[in-house]
Amino acid sequence: MSSDMFHMGWFMANGYGAQSWNRTWDGTIARDWMKPDFFVEMARALERACFDFMMFEDSLIIPDTYGGSTEFNLRNGHRAPKNDPATLIPVLGYTTSKIGLVSTLSTTFYHPFHLARLAASLDHLTDGRFGWNIVTTSNPAAAANYGTELPAHDDRYDIADEFVELAERLWDSWEPGSVVMDEEAGVFIDHTKVKPVNFEGQYYKSAGPLNTQPPFQGYPVYVQAGGSERGRQFAATHAEVIVCMAKGVDAMKAFRDDIHNRMEKMGRDPRCCKVLYLFDPVVGENETDVRAKLEIRDAKRLSVDGELTLSGYSDTSGIDLSTIDLDEPLENYRREDGHLAVLEQLMQVGPTMRDVLPTLDMTTMDVAGTPDQVAGQMEEIMQEVGGDGYLISGWEITRRRVAEIADGLAPALKRRGLIRDGYTKDTFREHLLEY
Ligand SMILES: Cc1cc2nc3c(=O)[nH]c(=O)nc-3n(C[C@H](O)[C@H](O)[C@H](O)COP(=O)(O)O)c2cc1C
Repeated sequence: MSSDMFHMGWFMANGYGAQSWNRTWDGTIARDWMKPDFFVEMARALERACFDFMMFEDSLIIPDTYGGSTEFNLRNGHRAPKNDPATLIPVLGYTTSKIGLVSTLSTTFYHPFHLARLAASLDHLTDGRFGWNIVTTSNPAAAANYGTELPAHDDRYDIADEFVELAERLWDSWEPGSVVMDEEAGVFIDHTKVKPVNFEGQYYKSAGPLNTQPPFQGYPVYVQAGGSERGRQFAATHAEVIVCMAKGVDAMKAFRDDIHNRMEKMGRDPRCCKVLYLFDPVVGENETDVRAKLEIRDAKRLSVDGELTLSGYSDTSGIDLSTIDLDEPLENYRREDGHLAVLEQLMQVGPTMRDVLPTLDMTTMDVAGTPDQVAGQMEEIMQEVGGDGYLISGWEITRRRVAEIADGLAPALKRRGLIRDGYTKDTFREHLLEY
């Protein structure tokens, strides 16, 4: 196992929704997105590519910040409609055997008992391949759908800390050896090893024990993408995969160093947590094809993709970017109720939206080339930054795009010995810790 090897995941930024509707190569997605086939084919392709995991975004609203209404999102089938990705996990688990499957579940809108039971079920249905993208949810409209109000940004992470503590207590409420399965003695479960937790925290109470066996992996794999100070602290405390969206080598490196410092201060071994960089490369057949694809990408960045991205930033920051003054300092738009990291990230690029707009996308580095050229650049970036791998992202998720990555880029990475060429383990966590 070479020390230069890294991990690969794919981030489904539009969740369990109509992927890339109304784009060339979108096939029959408008009719079929609610069926599992597209996602099953994709999971199998990524398993063929030996990816570590596939990860589904989720949210609890029809966004209405951009343009002050739901029109933009509904008209474009963008981020709505959206099904619950947790329901897709068992289907993907049943039709694959090695790839990790990550669903987003919000600590603000689940109860720890409910989530602990769901995650245990999903981890068994996938034979230990379930991962939980822990989010605290930042949009007040989500709270309104639950008839409540959002706690303040940092409080949401305090609540999430206690949430994870209680979920773990519930998973641990079944001691090792509690499942006996002794037919002769007539004992399925040893009830003396299944104990109440009697948890009384600041935010939650639960008597326990959990009414099902603990997850296959003990706990699901924790994935997190907090970018703010408090979010990073939460990630460094719990996460086993952290998503980095910081742009450029220096920021990527600084992010990873910061996470490692925090982990070391807490006594956690940084090798237990993989920092993965959002990555959306242009992959082409040859130089001419790459140039043509770059032209299309650049045009989309200033039109359709730019608007999709802006609407997403509106959703997460609570700021209507459809009317933003391109020359107004972004600092003036800072609010408490949005994702703090979003604004900070934008301001790292430039002081106003006019500076930032051409760079708004879902990649930490702009990379383009043939599969082998892209693989080579990924190797160089990893050597310079010292990271643990990449999370493929971007608005284009079509069968063609999946083939470019799974059947073009991945084989090139394998030829260079940069990613695994076959799975030697079984569970998601084992694959992450393999190197
Ligand atoms: C790749 C990635 C995936 C994310 N997925 C979700 C998601 O599915 N649902 C959600 O509510 N937030 C999601 N977020 C938002 C993060 O959980 C986090 O709230 C955000 O990065 C801002 O950081 P902060 O909460 O520390 O301010 C995602 C962020 C990134 C970068």
